[in-house]
Amino acid sequence: MIRETEIDDELLRYRSEFPILEGTTYLISNSLGAMPRGVYGAMKAYADTWATRGVRAWEERWWMLAAEVGAEIGALMNATEGAVSAHPNVTTCQAVVASCFDFSAKRNKVVYTDLNFPSVMYFWEAQRAHGARVHMVPTENGVAVPTERLLDAIDETTLLVPVSHVIFRSSHIQDAKAIIEKAHRVGAYVVLDTFQSLGNVPVDVQALNVDFACGGVLKWLCGGPGVGYLYVRPDLGKNLEPKFTGWFAHQNPFRFEIGPIRYTDPPFRFMNGTTSIPALEAARPGLKIIAEVGIQRIREKSKKQTARLIELADQHGWMVNSPRDPEQRGGTVSIDMPNSQEVCRELLKREILVDWRPKAGVRMSPHFYNTDRELEVAIGAVEEILEDLVTAGR
Ligand SMILES: Cc1ncc(COP(=O)(O)O)c(C=O)c1O
Repeated sequence: MIRETEIDDELLRYRSEFPILEGTTYLISNSLGAMPRGVYGAMKAYADTWATRGVRAWEERWWMLAAEVGAEIGALMNATEGAVSAHPNVTTCQAVVASCFDFSAKRNKVVYTDLNFPSVMYFWEAQRAHGARVHMVPTENGVAVPTERLLDAIDETTLLVPVSHVIFRSSHIQDAKAIIEKAHRVGAYVVLDTFQSLGNVPVDVQALNVDFACGGVLKWLCGGPGVGYLYVRPDLGKNLEPKFTGWFAHQNPFRFEIGPIRYTDPPFRFMNGTTSIPALEAARPGLKIIAEVGIQRIREKSKKQTARLIELADQHGWMVNSPRDPEQRGGTVSIDMPNSQEVCRELLKREILVDWRPKAGVRMSPHFYNTDRELEVAIGAVEEILEDLVTAGR
């Protein structure tokens, strides 16, 4: 239901593009963005192409698709043409970056905070076997790590700093600019994980002068699972040689040469094997809508709606595990009310889609398609669930 006060909210006209909004209160775009209606058509077109064009589809459409989708993602982060390659997920992007470097040399320190997404940390921990010295800066409050503490850990022996732009647990926006400047002062490179920012918080890879940026399309970009992206700064991209490579990165893949690879230019230079065509096709309708809506408008609305959620949580005295300063807060508000895990389970039963994470609580993530009323519905339901639990003596 759209309220009178929201009639001015132009972004609500996109609601009809997302079928799931008809039957649920969808506040979980930090985990999986709602599917745009256009994906039905994209998947049908994909099947028709496969069915009718068969192997000719590679030449006619599929071979270039990863580069085209990369360019669409790149446009959202002000990347130059050809700087973004497509991959199945962020962990693979980390592996491609790692494979460009030598960890047996003196400069082999990898610095990040323990608020990174765990998959990224599992990957880097495993690189100790190749000589990487992992230095993890711990958080004290579970929300953020003070920038100075992270900067102090970045020294002349640091090779890479793979950090999240927006922390998945708390939605804290890290000071990417300061991190990148410090890394560059000591000769290190930053791999910025923009999974929880791009599509919700503005990202400008050129203004940041970041070396690498990666993420996926399935959350704030409404692009579905199976597509990750990797931006490589163009001057680095020309020369780096990923050892995790394959025939898509070859100058002339169809010569099927024997022996070492001859690298082509980016973006294919950073790819390896056959790309995930159905996932790339499914990603496009969401990317198109996000580009049309515009990240600045999404951000303005998100700041207002997350502030409203914090206000409602405060009225009930619930613990808020996300930054209160809107400039430091991404699109999620983590609320740790009593029995928060059980509350989350009950919310799901009522078709209010949110999630729960240890040390965070219930994560609520409005996106451009949510109404203010939905925030109140969700908080009202929490109130009722807590009352029921009290009545039941739990
Ligand atoms: C910040 C961040 N990085 C990475 C991931 C996921 O990594 P992958 O694409 O390798 O599954 C997530 C969440 O799914 C995330 O929130």
